[in-house]
Amino acid sequence: MLKAAGLAMGGLLCSGAATGFAQETSQLIATGEDIAQDHCSRCHVIDTKNLFGGISSTPSFPLMVNELSDWEERFSSFHTRLPHPSIVRFKGEPVDPDKPVLTVPVELEYTDIEALVAYARTLIKGD
Ligand code: HEC
Repeated sequence: MLKAAGLAMGGLLCSGAATGFAQETSQLIATGEDIAQDHCSRCHVIDTKNLFGGISSTPSFPLMVNELSDWEERFSSFHTRLPHPSIVRFKGEPVDPDKPVLTVPVELEYTDIEALVAYARTLIKGD
């Protein structure tokens, strides 16, 4: 009897944890989507909301996540990949005088990278 109650409790605890995780993930995705809309859509088509936006020579997010097997690595390090180092700044970090600001900077928190990866993952098409 006690064992059954323990199992039932365990089940409840587990599903509680799973809900917490799902909420955290959907919050992360929403944050990533906001950042992508505010900043990345200046140059990239990010999803169907700006299909005719962006700069045509710039790869779209759906293309990258569906066609490149290493998309997650690319998104996780996009700020170090050209042309982004000259536009991305992390909040609170001093401006590097050797890095000229070429345009209005994209100012991010380090945790925003994880949010962008979570959002990009939602653009993978199901089969
Ligand atoms: C000023 C324009 C501009 C903005 C703003 C911009 N990008 Fe890009 N991005 C580019 C261009 C151009 C390329 C293609 C570079 C190339 O072909 O080498 C690119 C490529 C990428 C790549 C692939 C990089 C690689 O080397 O594989 C990723 C991932 C990416 N962008 C993510 C982002 C994210 C996330 C944001 C928003 C936080 C963003 N970009 C904002 C212009 C921009």
